[in-house]
Amino acid sequence: MDITKLEQRYEGKAKKVFATSDPSYYIVEYKDDATAFNGLKHGTITGKGVINNKMSNMMFRLLEKNGVKTHFVEQLSDRETLVKAVEIVPLEIIIRNTAAGSFSKRYGVEEGTALKCPTLEFSLKNDALNDPLINDSHIIALGVATEDELKAIREMAYKVNDVLKEFFAGIGVKLVDFKIEAGRLPDGSIILADEISPDTCRFWDAKTNEKLDKDRFRRDMGGVEEAYEEIFRRITEQKNV
Ligand code: TMP
Repeated sequence: MDITKLEQRYEGKAKKVFATSDPSYYIVEYKDDATAFNGLKHGTITGKGVINNKMSNMMFRLLEKNGVKTHFVEQLSDRETLVKAVEIVPLEIIIRNTAAGSFSKRYGVEEGTALKCPTLEFSLKNDALNDPLINDSHIIALGVATEDELKAIREMAYKVNDVLKEFFAGIGVKLVDFKIEAGRLPDGSIILADEISPDTCRFWDAKTNEKLDKDRFRRDMGGVEEAYEEIFRRITEQKNV
C-alpha cells in the first residue's frame, strides 16, 4: 500500500501512533521503553520494540485466521506496523486462566492457582485514576461502551483466550493471563487493537513455571531481554504463524 507516515498523533508508554496520508490508517511504532506501576518504574528492554511488533503481528494474523477481526494491516519495518485507525475503547480487558498479579493480591489467592474457568475483568484506562476496576453497569452508565459493544468485547476476549491458550500450549507455554484493548471502526464495529506481547500477557514455561514476560522487569528478576527472546524464538520456530 502506498501510504505516507505523517505527524505523531499520540505517544504511549510503549508505542507511538502516527497519522498517515490515508485517514483510515495509522502507523504504530514500538519502543524499547518499559514502565510498570502506572509509570512509576522506568527502564529500557533492549530489542523489545522489535520483538513486540513482530510477535503482536503474528498473534493478530493467527487470530484473524480464527475469525477474530483485528486492526492489523501490514508490517512495515522491524518496529512499524500499518493498522486500521480506530477509536480505542478506554478499557483494559483482562482474561485470567491462572491466578497471578493483582488478582492474587486482591483475593488472597496463591499465584499459580488454576482457576475453575477463565475470568474476565475490566479496568478503566485512566492513568490519573490508576486504571480502576470497573464493572459492566458502570461502563454502560458512564457511556464508556454500550451494552452491545460490551457483548462484542466479551465474546472477542474469550475467543482470543481460546485461540491463544491452545497456540501457547503447543509451544510449551502456559498463558496465565493477558490484557487486550478494543477499537471502534467508523461503522461502529468492534475489533481487536493495541498489542499482544510479553508486555501485555503472562507467559510461564509449562514445565518449570519460569516467567517469560514483563513480570521479570516489574519484579526485578533479571533475564528480561532473554525472556522476550525465548518466547519469540518459540513462536517463530512454530510454523503456523
Ligand atoms: P495484573 O495482574 O497486574 O492486573 O495484570 C493482568 C494482566 O494484564 C497481565 O498479563 C499484565 C497485563 N497488564 C497490562 O498489559 N498493562 C497494565 O498496565 C497492567 C497493570 C497489566
